[in-house]
Amino acid sequence: MLRVSGVVRVPGDKSISHRALLITAIAGGEARVRGILPSADVHATARVLRALGIPVPSLSDDLVLRSDGLTALRTPSEPLDCGNSGTTTRLMAGVVAGRAGVTATFAGDASLSRRPMQRIARPLTQMGATFAFERGDGLPMQVTGAALQGIDWRSEHASAQVKSAILLAAVSSGVEAKVHEPTRSRDHTERMLSACGATVEVLPDGARVRAGATLRAVDVQVPADPSSAAFFVALAALAHGGELVLPDVCLNPTRTGGFDILQRMGVSLRVDDERVVGGETIGTLVVSPASLVATQVRGDEVARAIDELPLVACVAARAHGETRITEASELRVKESDRIAAVVANLRAIGVDAEELPDGLVVRGSDRPLAGRVITHGDHRLAMAFGVLGAVPGNAITIDDPDCVDVSFPGFWETLARATGAAPSVATEPVASSPGASGRRLVVAIDGPAASGKSSTAQWVAKRLGIRHVDSGAFYRALTALGLRSGVEPEAWTAEHLLAAAGRVTLGLTERSVVPLVDGERHEEELRGAAVTAQVSRVAALPSVRAWVNERVREAGASTEVVVDGRDIGTAVFPDAPLKIFMVADQWERARRRLVQRLGRKPTDGEIAVETEELVARDARDATQSRPDPAAITIDTTSLTQEEQVERIVALAEAVRAR
Ligand code: S3P
Repeated sequence: MLRVSGVVRVPGDKSISHRALLITAIAGGEARVRGILPSADVHATARVLRALGIPVPSLSDDLVLRSDGLTALRTPSEPLDCGNSGTTTRLMAGVVAGRAGVTATFAGDASLSRRPMQRIARPLTQMGATFAFERGDGLPMQVTGAALQGIDWRSEHASAQVKSAILLAAVSSGVEAKVHEPTRSRDHTERMLSACGATVEVLPDGARVRAGATLRAVDVQVPADPSSAAFFVALAALAHGGELVLPDVCLNPTRTGGFDILQRMGVSLRVDDERVVGGETIGTLVVSPASLVATQVRGDEVARAIDELPLVACVAARAHGETRITEASELRVKESDRIAAVVANLRAIGVDAEELPDGLVVRGSDRPLAGRVITHGDHRLAMAFGVLGAVPGNAITIDDPDCVDVSFPGFWETLARATGAAPSVATEPVASSPGASGRRLVVAIDGPAASGKSSTAQWVAKRLGIRHVDSGAFYRALTALGLRSGVEPEAWTAEHLLAAAGRVTLGLTERSVVPLVDGERHEEELRGAAVTAQVSRVAALPSVRAWVNERVREAGASTEVVVDGRDIGTAVFPDAPLKIFMVADQWERARRRLVQRLGRKPTDGEIAVETEELVARDARDATQSRPDPAAITIDTTSLTQEEQVERIVALAEAVRAR
């Protein structure tokens, strides 16, 4: 039985946070911004503004931003790293497009680089800016600003990012713009520009900004993000008892489609204390459990609920009947192809779901849901499935739980608190106790590359209620310290890196053993692009590997653990009470790698090429992948991941019973 309780304060609205920085920066003057969302996406906007010459202070709950306005914008010396953030890219590209003399190249992570940018390049080019793409569409994209002409643009997409790029380009050049959309998208840009002194009109099908306004920055109070609140509305709805209270949630009508849909599905949701703060309606949501029914989503509602549709699909898995979402092909160009990814993941956990060209169908049931969710780094997928996973009886693992930092840092802790579970992250350091204690359960999992050991190990740890050691994070911690030292990565040596290793200690979270750097997790830094780009260089150094192995050994001496990796059963834990060696035939391993990488079913041709690569890699690795004689070999070729997990859990339970 799941009981929810308490007051859940979800962080600031992502869309408004981006705009608070960006519009204050171009308006000029001084503004106080309270309640900004300090997430990876908003950090990207701050970073990009700084690179363009605006002195944005570090993000805090109460910050003051001073700017000389548009005239302060400069051509940056490096490409602008927009991380995972489409809003940063498209809105900032609009601003740059309107500044004659400024040229900037926009770059981002793999997911962002796949997203379409011609949708902004077309209107902004018509206005007079110049766009250059290295590939037909997507990042990297170079934008050269100009003194633009006005525009009257009919957009094919109901997209606030496209609309905002055009309106901001017009403001940036002091000209007029009209944008028409097929259905109305969120209007935070219009509201904030108008608060700063621009003349903005709401058109029946879009917005118009008049030429030549003089802007001045205004203070912003960022309300709680309705798209983040929606996860807890869904959690309360799926619970069996209790009530959740969500204060100060933004109730802008262009954002409340998700709540309307959930209410139609039976969710009991009340709004208290509704009021207008800083031009946005906010209120306190009170939500309690409900029995859920299927629904249909299409038309205008799609844009009003665009970010909540993955969650609606997950809730539909528990609703009576068939839910259909259509006219939603925009979902295919979000942080992932959210139609394909949601359906594949729903199926992977046992839900009857189907893809449509422009949406999806989900048939609800009460059956327990179990399996592994592949997020493709998409924060909203991680959280939507995380909510389903919080329902007792379901056993759902998420491949990349940390990707929630894009919009909701601290999501897992908030989820654990709302369900009354232990907080999932404790950062107190673990005293390192030298010498292994023979009685502790250590499950050592080894096997060749792409045998699936890492994801299986995480799931086994969860089932056994013990911790997984994230050995990769220790390489990342040393990499971060290397970067902080200012020495060029090409010049790093093991001695240089290990000189700082004393600053890395062990920390416990509910689910894993993690490195702490100077006593803190620094998750954003450790998972960031800069560390990712250099970590393999660090992991290739033998004495660094020896150091990480030593930390992993310490972890197993402090707490019961499941550890996976090379040499784990032979060199690192030769005395582990349970050693597993996972194998699978090369074709199957190649297929799994591709599914993970591509997020779809690979063709036989693709698998053949990948198999060849694996065979070569195995030949190079032969010395490292030999099983320890005491290891139990599990051939996973024809086992589902659930079956692999079951088998290892059964063996571990037998060891425990001895
Ligand atoms: C956003 C607009 C939406 C939304 C995104 C944030 C914004 O994207 O999905 O999370 O802040 O303008 P589109 O405008 O591309 O639909």
